[in-house]
Amino acid sequence: MSLRKVKISAVEMFVPERILTNMDLEKMVETTNEWILERTGIKKRHIVEKGQAASDLAAEAIKKLCRQRGITPADLELIILPTVTPDMFFPSTACVTQEKIGASKAWGFDLSGACSGFIFALSVAEKYVRLGIHDKVVVVGSEIMSSIVDYTDRATCVLFGDGAGAVLLEPTDETDDEEVGIIETMCRTDGSGGRFLYMPGGGSLNPPSYETIDKKMHFIHQEGRQVFKFAVTEMADISQQILDKHNFKAADITLYVPHQANMRIIKACQDRLGFTDEQLIINIDQYGNTTSATIPICLYEAHLEGRIRKGDYVVLASFGAGFTWGATLLRWEI
Ligand SMILES: CC(C)(COP(=O)(O)OP(=O)(O)OC[C@H]1O[C@@H](n2cnc3c(N)ncnc32)[C@H](O)[C@@H]1OP(=O)(O)O)[C@@H](O)C(=O)NCCC(=O)NCCS
Repeated sequence: MSLRKVKISAVEMFVPERILTNMDLEKMVETTNEWILERTGIKKRHIVEKGQAASDLAAEAIKKLCRQRGITPADLELIILPTVTPDMFFPSTACVTQEKIGASKAWGFDLSGACSGFIFALSVAEKYVRLGIHDKVVVVGSEIMSSIVDYTDRATCVLFGDGAGAVLLEPTDETDDEEVGIIETMCRTDGSGGRFLYMPGGGSLNPPSYETIDKKMHFIHQEGRQVFKFAVTEMADISQQILDKHNFKAADITLYVPHQANMRIIKACQDRLGFTDEQLIINIDQYGNTTSATIPICLYEAHLEGRIRKGDYVVLASFGAGFTWGATLLRWEI
C-alpha cells in the first residue's frame, strides 16, 4: 500500500469576545500589570461568558474553517478534539461539536494531551489521511481554561485564556517532491512530571465531593518553576532533534511556532535553537496560554499576516502537563 502525502489545507481560530486584562486581574488578586508583563509577556486573554463551552468555540472554529475551504461540515469525515476542558466527561466534546455543526458523516473523539494536545492530535489525524482512510480530517484544539483556573491564585490565574484553533488535513495532489505537507511529528511523554502540573479533583481518583471542592481540587495546581525548567529543556531539545533528523539548520526554517505558555520560555527556546525574531511567532500577549489551541491560533495569524507562504518550512513545538512534549516539521501548502 502506498502512503499518501498530507497537507494542512485550511486553518482557523475562534476566541470569545470578552477580554480579561492585567488591569482587571490587579483588582482580583495581589498582582501588577508590570509583574505579569515582565514574568509572562501576557497583556490580556479572552474569557467565555457563562454557559459557553469548549464545543461552542470548536464549532465556530470549524464552521469558519469549512467556509475558508469552500466545503460544508457535512463533508468532514473525522474530528479529533484535543482538550483538557471538555464540556463534560462524556459524551466527548467531539460528539457534541459534530452535532452542533451538522457534520453528519464525521466520527470523532477527544484527546487528552494538555498543551501538547494539538501536536499529539495532528500526529494521529495525519495517519488517517496518509493511509487513505479519510480525505478530510479536522483537528480542533478548544479550551475553556477559565473553567479550571482558581481566580484567587495569582500564580496561575494570570497565565491562561480561552480559545479554539482548527486545521483541516487533506491528501496532497500527486507530486514527485519528497517533502510536502506534514513531514514528521515527534511525540514524547514523561509521567514522572505529572505532579508538577495537574488538576487532582473530579476524576476517578478524587470524585467530586464537598471535600474536593473545599480543598480546591478542581483547579489547576502547578509548580511553576519546575514546569518552566522542563519546558525550556524539552521543547528546545525536541525541536533540535527534528531539525537534525532532516538535516535542517535553523536558518532553513521560515517560522518557528512554539506553544505559548510564557514569553520567557519561548525566548529561551529561541536562544538555544538560534532562531531570529523574524523566524519566531509570539502572540501570548493577546491570548495567554490557551493550551491545545495556541499552535493553531499562531498558524492562523502567521498565515493571515503572510508570514508563511506555500513551500515554506515550519516547525511546531509544544510542552505541557504530563509531562508531554512534541514537535512537527512541515511544509506550508496553502
Ligand atoms: C508561573 C510563573 C510565571 C511564575 O514565574 P516565576 O518567575 O517562576 O516566579 P516564582 O513562581 O518563582 O515566584 C516568584 C515570586 O512571584 C510571586 N508571584 C507569583 N505570581 C505572581 C503574580 N501574578 N503577581 C505577583 N507576584 C507573583 C510568587 O509568589 C513569588 O513570591 P515569593 O518570592 O514572595 O514567594 C513561571 O514559573 C512560569 O511561567 N512557569 C511555567 C508555567 C507554564 O508555562 N505552565 C503551562 C505549561 S504548558
